[in-house]
Amino acid sequence: MNESIKAVHRQHNVDVLSDISAYDASVTSRARAFHQSVPAYAPTPLCELRHLAEGLGLGRIAVKDESKRFGLNSFKGLGTSYAAARYLMQYLGLPEEEMTYERLQQPEVRARLRGLTLVTATDGNHGRGVAWAAKLFGLFAQVFMPRGGSPERLANIRGLGAEASFTTYNYDDTVRHAATLAREKGWILLQDTAFEGYTEVPRWIMQGYTTLADEAAEEYGERPTHIFLQAGVGSLAAAIAGYFAAHDGAQRPVITIVEPNRADCLYRTAAADDGTQHIVTGEINSIMAGLSCGEPSTIAWEILRDHADHFVSVPEWVAAKGMRILGNPLDGDPRIISGESGAVTTGLVAELMQNRSLDYLRERIGLGKDSRILCISTEGDTDRTNYRRVVWDGLYPSY
Ligand SMILES: Cc1ncc(COP(=O)(O)O)c(C=O)c1O
Repeated sequence: MNESIKAVHRQHNVDVLSDISAYDASVTSRARAFHQSVPAYAPTPLCELRHLAEGLGLGRIAVKDESKRFGLNSFKGLGTSYAAARYLMQYLGLPEEEMTYERLQQPEVRARLRGLTLVTATDGNHGRGVAWAAKLFGLFAQVFMPRGGSPERLANIRGLGAEASFTTYNYDDTVRHAATLAREKGWILLQDTAFEGYTEVPRWIMQGYTTLADEAAEEYGERPTHIFLQAGVGSLAAAIAGYFAAHDGAQRPVITIVEPNRADCLYRTAAADDGTQHIVTGEINSIMAGLSCGEPSTIAWEILRDHADHFVSVPEWVAAKGMRILGNPLDGDPRIISGESGAVTTGLVAELMQNRSLDYLRERIGLGKDSRILCISTEGDTDRTNYRRVVWDGLYPSY
């Protein structure tokens, strides 16, 4: 495949924007209050990269470091804990207002939950989040990974007590496999992507992610002018875009979605703009495992279609560049250990500012010395073998 940086842009008709009330202040504050009740909760740091911003000719770059989230090395526990808790409260017939970690630990509640099983498909990080959420509430977890996935990520899921294995399918077929097993065995499907007939749990997962947006908004102080969001199925990106659109309306930051060339289903769907989803089929062998999804989440796409401005599809080396920049900062900037899916947005920002052949795209996105950038490093070195191959051995050099 001829890999290159490609972009499509969207103009929005403000009269027909999709509903984002599911991500407004009342929802966000409930999600955040729940997370605050979880013992391991602490806001993740927002790292200021002052020298990098100066060197690239930007006003500000701050990167939120999700490797510090709940000891899970990625942001995913926010979604899994919130969605599992919402599901369990509904299952128990308890009102949502009472939803706290402590409430779900009460002995009579724990007794009623005993024997329940969560099931999911994952490239690694979401499954680790599901295994952790199952452990929080005393449930079983069954986790399925696509063929060719990372053994280290599988081991981390098993380390939390879940049953985990590789399938012989790609990611999207593994999702269908988990959904079939849920139906057949009466397990609870805790999937971070929506499809026809399955939207409630993925929406809860996305609402859980708004805690991240809320922390970032608070830590940033002023509003960023530009947010770069990496996407697999699009749930994270849509939750963050939905949060800022719901809170800021037309004043929201410029939103740019970033995907690997090898799994750019949102970019293709935005480019075609024909009301149908354009999926990527077959083997997806990107180092950005968390972004290696060929089919957009239906409810995420509806939000991104109307509340994201640019969709950029990038080669593998853009992620590698981001990993090297964040892991080897300029003097005085903090170091961020960022994995493949975590670093791709920073890699793109740097490339846009350095590469003259991308002048048109930089101008189109509107980046310059007054720009205030927010990126999210969504994972740490969740596959340490590959991390070292990139950062030490120079796998995927720029260009
Ligand atoms: C580290 C990381 N970043 C980003 C994403 C993308 O999230 P989504 O699939 O919701 O677009 C994932 C998903 O697995 C991930 O693991």
